[in-house]
Amino acid sequence: MGLLGSVSSSSSLIAIILVLNVVALCNGGMTSTFVRKVEKTIDMPLDSDVFKVPAGYNAPQQVHITQGDHVGNAVIVSWVTVDEPGSSTVIYWSENSKEKKQAKGKVLTYEFYNYKSGYIHHTTIRKLKFNTKYYYVVGIGHTPRKFWFITPPEVGPDVPYTFGLIGDLGQTFDSNRTLAHYEQNPQKGKTVLFLGDLSYADHYPNQDNVRWDTWGRFIERSVAYQPWIWTAGNHEIILPPKLASNSTAPFWYSIKRASAYIIVLASYSAYGKYTLQYTWLEQELPKVNRTETPWLIVLLHSPWYNSYNYHYMEGETMRVMFEAWFVRYKVDVVFAGHVHAYERSERVSNVAYNIVNGICTPVKDQSAPVYITIGDGGNIEGLATNMTEPQPAYSAYREASFGHAIFDIKNRTHAYFSWHRNQDGYAVEADKLWFFNRYWNPVDESK
Ligand SMILES: [Fe+2]
Repeated sequence: MGLLGSVSSSSSLIAIILVLNVVALCNGGMTSTFVRKVEKTIDMPLDSDVFKVPAGYNAPQQVHITQGDHVGNAVIVSWVTVDEPGSSTVIYWSENSKEKKQAKGKVLTYEFYNYKSGYIHHTTIRKLKFNTKYYYVVGIGHTPRKFWFITPPEVGPDVPYTFGLIGDLGQTFDSNRTLAHYEQNPQKGKTVLFLGDLSYADHYPNQDNVRWDTWGRFIERSVAYQPWIWTAGNHEIILPPKLASNSTAPFWYSIKRASAYIIVLASYSAYGKYTLQYTWLEQELPKVNRTETPWLIVLLHSPWYNSYNYHYMEGETMRVMFEAWFVRYKVDVVFAGHVHAYERSERVSNVAYNIVNGICTPVKDQSAPVYITIGDGGNIEGLATNMTEPQPAYSAYREASFGHAIFDIKNRTHAYFSWHRNQDGYAVEADKLWFFNRYWNPVDESK
C-alpha cells in the first residue's frame, strides 16, 4: 500500500472516529426549544401586597408548618411576633371535634449585623390523628389568627399522596408566579418538598434579614396550610457575626409520609467518610422498609447530574461518596435545586470507576434513581440558560424556564411526575413521566 493508501486509511479512520463520536455524544435526550421572553428577575418591592404585615397589635406573621415527627402525626407551627413576645401557645382542634387543645412552645430571637429579629415562636403539636383536618390559632391574647392543615394518611405501602416540588424560590415577581402556579395546579399538592435556597436575603448588604421576613410573609399563604419539607441550600449558609439560636440540629434527616420515605441530605455539611452525615446515611438506608414505604425519595441541593454550565460538577464530590448506595438501595428519584432551570435524567449510574480501570461514563442502570433538577423557582439571580453541548446521554430533558413540579404517588408501583412552566396554563404539563417503583415494579419507564 502506497502513501496515498495510508493517508486514505487514516482519513477513513478519522472519519469513523468522528462518526462514532457524534453517535456517542449526541444521543442525549431533548433540549427544549421553548422560547420565553427574556426579562430581568427582580425582587418584589418591600411594599408589595404579598409582603403585607397582618393587621392588629402583635399579630402573628410568617406562619408556617412542617412535619414534626418521623411518621406525620406531629406538626411544628412557627410564627413571628414583632411588638412583644406574646404567647407561644397554639390552640388547635380537629374538624369533627369541639374539644380545643393547647400546645406550648418556645420563643427565641437573634441579631445579625444591624438586624434584630422579631420574636420567633416554635410550637410542636403532637399525637394528631392521621388524615384529619385540624384548625389552629396563634396570636393568643393579642391578635388571634386561624389557619388549618390536613395530616397525612397513616404510613402504608399503597397510600396515594401528592407532593409539590419547588426550589430556589426567592421573592421576585417570577417567584410569585411560581407559587401561584403551584397553588392553582389542578393536581393539588399536599406537601411541598423544597429543594433549598429560600429567600435570597443574602443578595442584599449584610444579608439583609428584613428580606427573610418578607419571604416568610410571602409564602405564608401556602406554608401555613400545608407543610413544606426543607432542604438547606448555599444561600442558607449564614456566616457570623452573631447568631443567637446556637442550633446544633443537623440539616440532614428523614421522614415518612404516606407511602414515601424521604431522605433530606445537606450539600453544604460535611459528607466525607466518617463524618456525621456519612455515617448517618450509611445507617439510614438499610432502615428503609420498602414493604412499608415503597417510594424512596432523596432531596438535596446541588445536583449530581447537571448538564448546565452553571454549578457544573459542584455535586460531583457528593455523588462519588453516595451514588453506589443509591444504586444498591434502589432510590426511586433524587430531586435537587441550585441550577435555575429544569432537567430530568435517564436512569443512570456511574459507579464502576476504581481509579485504574478508566470506566467513568454514566451508563443506563435500572437500579439507579432518576435525577431531577428543579431549581427554577424564580429567584433574583435569574435563569440558567447556558447549557453544555452536546446534550449528554444521561440527560433526558432540559429546559431553562421557571416552574414547579408534582410527584403524585398512586400506589406501590406507580407515580406520576409532571413539570409545569410558569408561562403555561395551570393544567399544562411541559414534561411528564410515569415512574415505576424500583422495588415493586423495576421496569424501564423509557420504553
Ligand atoms: Fe443554590
